[in-house]
Amino acid sequence: MRSAEIFNLNQMNTNITSEVTTTYTNILAETDSGIMTITVNRPEKLNALNHQTIQEIGKAVTNGMKDSTVNGIIITGAGEKAFVAGADISEFANYNPDEARKLSLDGQEVFRQIEMCSKPVIAAVNGFALGGGCELAMSCHMRIASENAKFGQPEVKLGLIPGYGGTQRMVQLIGKGKAMEYLMTSDMMDAKTALELGLVNYVTTKETLIEKCKELITKISAVSPEAISVIVKCVDAYFNPEVDGFSFEADEFGKCFTKEDSKEGIAAFLEKRKPIWKRK
Ligand code: COA
Repeated sequence: MRSAEIFNLNQMNTNITSEVTTTYTNILAETDSGIMTITVNRPEKLNALNHQTIQEIGKAVTNGMKDSTVNGIIITGAGEKAFVAGADISEFANYNPDEARKLSLDGQEVFRQIEMCSKPVIAAVNGFALGGGCELAMSCHMRIASENAKFGQPEVKLGLIPGYGGTQRMVQLIGKGKAMEYLMTSDMMDAKTALELGLVNYVTTKETLIEKCKELITKISAVSPEAISVIVKCVDAYFNPEVDGFSFEADEFGKCFTKEDSKEGIAAFLEKRKPIWKRK
């Protein structure tokens, strides 16, 4: 299946319009009203992530980050049943250990890129989010699930373990005890339980899932884009054992005062007007 992603890089002051078109095989990427929606588009395989699909997601996220007209990104799955039902198991049949390790590292790199994206990235989990699908959702900044969503890490049933950060991010999101339970049992977690455990931010109906994601990104679009990118880095510092998070935060707080957004935000407050953010 093929799709075109079209970016209109409108230079508002100069009236120059340049268009970059990226063609994908396994995903769709569309931008509308400042929100890029990336849809994993292999519904006949429940959107299983083969190597190419992961690379395409990485490329689309990079494009979204660079595009000044994009305020945030939604990642979802095509079809009625699945967000993503895992890594593509058919690719696993003939791997040797080095190839498998490389697959893991390549996937981790893309998921890390999503995690560190300077713009909000929300997973719209519309069905099965298993294995690599659960890991993809966990690499996003937030997760919103429809009522039929199911999360899980079933790799142990295959004699494997998660390879795209699942053993790390699940602990970060729901704590060690529950993460151990779900990683060891391979049980599926329904949307209600995911909400109770803090794995997802909200549960919606199927029909209102994307709308809820857009509502959140629109809300975030009203605040400083520079500050949002710093929030991503500071929250990440909490999980880095080599970094003193409080000291990192103080440094970044200081750096905010060198940036245009803080000047504009403070001036707008004092002048009792809405701030005008410059998007990069
Ligand atoms: N990799 C490759 N193909 C997959 C897949 C995966 N992770 N998950 C589903 N598919 C394929 C199936 O092989 C099937 O293809 P086919 O029609 O050519 O046989 C198709 O998607 C539909 O899946 P099916 O199993 O028939 O749907 P279901 O509703 O009966 O079951 C699941 C849904 C999610 C429970 C089941 O597909 C499943 O267990 N998938 C694997 C989940 C997993 O272990 N993920 C971690 C991988 S490391």
